[in-house]
Amino acid sequence: MSTANQPRKILVTSALPYANGSIHLGHLVEYIQTDIWVRFQKMQGHTVHYVCADDTHGTPIMLRAEKEGVTPEALIEAVHQEHSADFKEFLVEFDNYYSTNSAENKTLSQDIYRKLKANGKIATKTIEQFFDPVKNMFLPDRFIKGECPKCHAKDQYGDSCEVCGATYNPTELINAYSAVSGAAPIRKETEHYFFKLSECESFLKDWTRSGTLQGEAANKMGEWFENGLNDWDISRDAPYFGFEIPDAPGKYFYVWLDAPIGYMASFKNLCDKQGLNFDEYWQKDSKTELYHFIGKDILYFHALFWPATLEFSGHRKPTQIFAHGFLTVNGEKMSKSRGTFITARSYLDHINNPEYLRYYYAAKLNSTMEDIDLNLEDFVARVNSDLVGKYINIASRTAGFINKRFDGKLKPSENNAIVAEIKAAATAVAEAYAEREYGKALREIMRLADVANGFVAEKAPWVMAKQAGQDAALQEVCSDALELFRLLTLYLKPVLPKLAAEVEQFLNISPLTWTSIGASLTANHTISAYEHLITRIDPKAVEAMTEANKENLAATPAPQAHSEQRHAAHQQNEVKAETLETDYITIDDFTKVDLRIAKIVDAEHVEGAEKLLKLTLDIGEEKPRQVFAGIKSAYDPETLKGRLTVMVANLAPRKMKFGMSEGMVLAASDERGGPYILSPDSGAQAGMRVK
Ligand code: 2FM
Ligand code: ZN
Repeated sequence: MSTANQPRKILVTSALPYANGSIHLGHLVEYIQTDIWVRFQKMQGHTVHYVCADDTHGTPIMLRAEKEGVTPEALIEAVHQEHSADFKEFLVEFDNYYSTNSAENKTLSQDIYRKLKANGKIATKTIEQFFDPVKNMFLPDRFIKGECPKCHAKDQYGDSCEVCGATYNPTELINAYSAVSGAAPIRKETEHYFFKLSECESFLKDWTRSGTLQGEAANKMGEWFENGLNDWDISRDAPYFGFEIPDAPGKYFYVWLDAPIGYMASFKNLCDKQGLNFDEYWQKDSKTELYHFIGKDILYFHALFWPATLEFSGHRKPTQIFAHGFLTVNGEKMSKSRGTFITARSYLDHINNPEYLRYYYAAKLNSTMEDIDLNLEDFVARVNSDLVGKYINIASRTAGFINKRFDGKLKPSENNAIVAEIKAAATAVAEAYAEREYGKALREIMRLADVANGFVAEKAPWVMAKQAGQDAALQEVCSDALELFRLLTLYLKPVLPKLAAEVEQFLNISPLTWTSIGASLTANHTISAYEHLITRIDPKAVEAMTEANKENLAATPAPQAHSEQRHAAHQQNEVKAETLETDYITIDDFTKVDLRIAKIVDAEHVEGAEKLLKLTLDIGEEKPRQVFAGIKSAYDPETLKGRLTVMVANLAPRKMKFGMSEGMVLAASDERGGPYILSPDSGAQAGMRVK
């Protein structure tokens, strides 16, 4: 990505939040990440439009409205107000924040569907689905409950068991019932509309190779291609809160069809308000740039369905998709029981300064899909030390002298080497922002703040102020320090826009942009009175926040509804859903797992299997175990022979295509690499129990 000075036309989006839950600190990672990038690009002088909207359609929203005794329209309107206020307070500055339930979105969704149909990309198929005979509606898997077929826990969801972790089809549930009416669901045939994604493979493969995706995302795509692409079910039967499919009475677009089109619709609405040219941004050969910021859990939708939808309806494709990881708090998933499931509003109620969180997230963010951790102790320490101790300190130790002794008038030196050094860092800082390496940008800025503080400490204006005949030197040192402060403010402005505006007022300068680096505070320029700009975070406020959330959430079911919809939507496409709550197991549950040290006595390739190796494991039993392990990509079987590892010895044997698998070996992996099988320390012997 270039940071050169040609003006660019850029359209940026963040994922559309569902309109049935509050914005929480997990959501804010993405909106803050995007907002920083947008503000940075605007400071560069580019034309940038940042649009978003509430994602309003689907069964969970329809049912929640019904439960609350309001229309879906009234529900989504109330949520729209709440979301808009939260974003505004966190300084997330959309150029348009709209709704997917809009006239623009209806027209665009129907037009796109018609084009896909004309291009032969729509098929219909009769499928069998669960139906609630009392409610007279088809049920998404997440709305069917029953007894787990594996562990017999009651009241489990239709896709997976929260007690034993088993995944299954809703048809396998014992005594299934509808979570909506309690009635036993029946199976019923219905005609559904499909987008023929299976025909888009070669287009998508080419597109994946075009540099649109991060490395990890492209790898993920590789896996999906390997598993084969299924046609995508884009219809739902009435009753459904959404848009009706043209010429298909009673059939509605599935929420994930019209949600990304909501990006276009929000922009269309902006174009109509501001006289912008919509087609210039969306036509097939558009010269403008389009970036989608998303969480890694919705990559499937943005990297497969969305580009295919755009391509086969005659539109441009995204320039790049920027996926980020999930948020953990204190190293764990956000949790209601620990009080770390914190809404945007609750943060504001207790901490009252959104820029602290913006700063902390920025310090943790990079361009990868790694998860980021909000460690609450580190949050307090980092903000207090960097923002108060380093950055603000430069002004608070020097501005007073200018105000009191020189009537607010500056007289900077002609040639200050430190000013030159800080100006010279502009390119490196800009590159880091442009590449979404915000942590790197802030490390560099704080290094420069250290240099600036070193300058102030060395000159010690507070000593000069007490000495006779030092007036000119005092004025010069303090003026130079304020110039350093101006430059650091400019660099921090994408992250701390409100503080930067206050500094601009105090320094009595026009809004800082990237070209302001070339300018300087000049002799006789008058600054305003200095008032303390930020205060330290009191750790007690953070404690009070987690305490309050422990109490609150017991009585607030809303986030559950949110995660439910997310889950329902994602599991449909076999994308792993983000679960926000840790499901604890007891020590008894844990001891049920029989972990044993196993010696790999033999390892071999399996003909016809792309991922598997066949392992023969000695765990001190008479007969060795045969286990198929998906570790072929990382290990040459020869190197495994004779090694010790850890296996689950009491996993029910599974019949696989290539034979019985009698257990499982433990291996670590995530986007960073793997699988890595585990090894015990020396001294361990085959058959020993692991506990
Ligand atoms: O996962 C979610 O929260 C979805 N509401 C995101 C939609 S993004 C876009 F495609 F509309
Ligand atoms: Zn179970």
